[in-house]
Amino acid sequence: MSNSQADFLEQMKRIPEVLAPSLAEDWPKLPVIKAEGAYLYTADGKRYLDFTSGIAVTNLGHGHPRVLEAARQQMEQMVHSAVGVTIHKSLLDLCEALPKVLPGEMDMFFFGNSGAEAVEGAIKLARYVSGRPGIIAFEGGFHGRTYGAASVTSVKSKYRNHYEPFVPSIYFAPYPYAYRCPLGSTPEKALEWTLLGIERLFQHQIPPSQVAAFLVEPIQGEGGYIVPPRDFLPALRRICDEHGILLILDEVQTGFGRTGEMFACQHSGVIPDILAIAKGIANGFPLSATVASRKLMSQWLPGAHGTTYGGNPIACAAALATLQVIQEENLLENARKMGKRFLDGLNALKKKYPVIGEVRGLGLMLAMEFVYPNTDKRPNPEVAFNLLNAMLEQGLVAYMAGNVGQVVRYIPPLIVTAEQIDEALAITEKGLAQVTH
Ligand SMILES: Cc1ncc(COP(=O)(O)O)c(C=O)c1O
Repeated sequence: MSNSQADFLEQMKRIPEVLAPSLAEDWPKLPVIKAEGAYLYTADGKRYLDFTSGIAVTNLGHGHPRVLEAARQQMEQMVHSAVGVTIHKSLLDLCEALPKVLPGEMDMFFFGNSGAEAVEGAIKLARYVSGRPGIIAFEGGFHGRTYGAASVTSVKSKYRNHYEPFVPSIYFAPYPYAYRCPLGSTPEKALEWTLLGIERLFQHQIPPSQVAAFLVEPIQGEGGYIVPPRDFLPALRRICDEHGILLILDEVQTGFGRTGEMFACQHSGVIPDILAIAKGIANGFPLSATVASRKLMSQWLPGAHGTTYGGNPIACAAALATLQVIQEENLLENARKMGKRFLDGLNALKKKYPVIGEVRGLGLMLAMEFVYPNTDKRPNPEVAFNLLNAMLEQGLVAYMAGNVGQVVRYIPPLIVTAEQIDEALAITEKGLAQVTH
């Protein structure tokens, strides 16, 4: 171990003194000294298979050479200047490249730095152009930590505790979570439950004429990788069209190939009015965008919204390279193929381990929800966390999700190989045997 690695490990002990607990008290705090492809290398000489991808960010694997080269070249030209004061070419190139992969005619952008900012922008845009106050979000959703984004987030009450009052005129409808639907665990019942909830909101709390937008994740991320019924987004689209309500999709976690399509809404063909994108957009460089059609976005007049860092030149150059790599290396196809291999393997494990209540996911966004066997699906965060730790011991990093942490989610990079999937499955099985014996 080098001196600087030893130093690093020593410094780790000071985390509780220097980092806010709200930032530091996460898991598993790996002291990484190098990240490459699907692997993380730590100061204590270990190597980990990274099935978190920085929470769905480094979709091309860590340090993809083409992304690094694009960033390096841009860095030599200009690191920063606020968009508007100057304009850089990589920004305009990105504005030309993105519409080619986005659903429908989404061809105007407001760039920010994080997912939460993209959501803030989407909410502000929807209210601004519609002149209506109401936003209907979904129970169990996660949209970020800034005030607007936290106001539409309901995955855990802990994320809302002590922050009231939130941004007003926000309402929640039930997400179609078939596994835990009170009407019955089928996609049809789950959709029925959601549509009833929306109807009740319209009848009792806010008439549709006062609703600016629905805001929804096409697959709930932090909520537990909940894949809704196929008809859910089309049904929402119809309700929106009927009442002149805008449809905002939060594809911050699902975007850029994660589900096997460039965007998750492309599985159903539903085109949103406003889209929030971030995370995988630039393979690790901070960038996000609130996106809409020119017709809608051009109503957002000068001064109505702004940013200093949004659309940073290096991040834009990295995003362009990221898009090219996803397409040229056929990563959507790889995500579909590897996702199926992984899902089949997890389903085989479900047959052996009754603690696995459900296996679900799409593409490379996969999860297992844990329950106490022989109960009425009582969530089992203990087994989930023990499994995460057991897998970490074996060199695999996955992550938790779900409203009480009862879900283990896998977020491998889209470049993942069959050998790495099989290794992750073997480690999962070993871990399950260990934590359920
Ligand atoms: C669906 C979704 N929206 C928004 C966000 C917030 O993104 P950020 O943490 O970049 O602000 C996240 C982050 O996990 C997310 O999963």
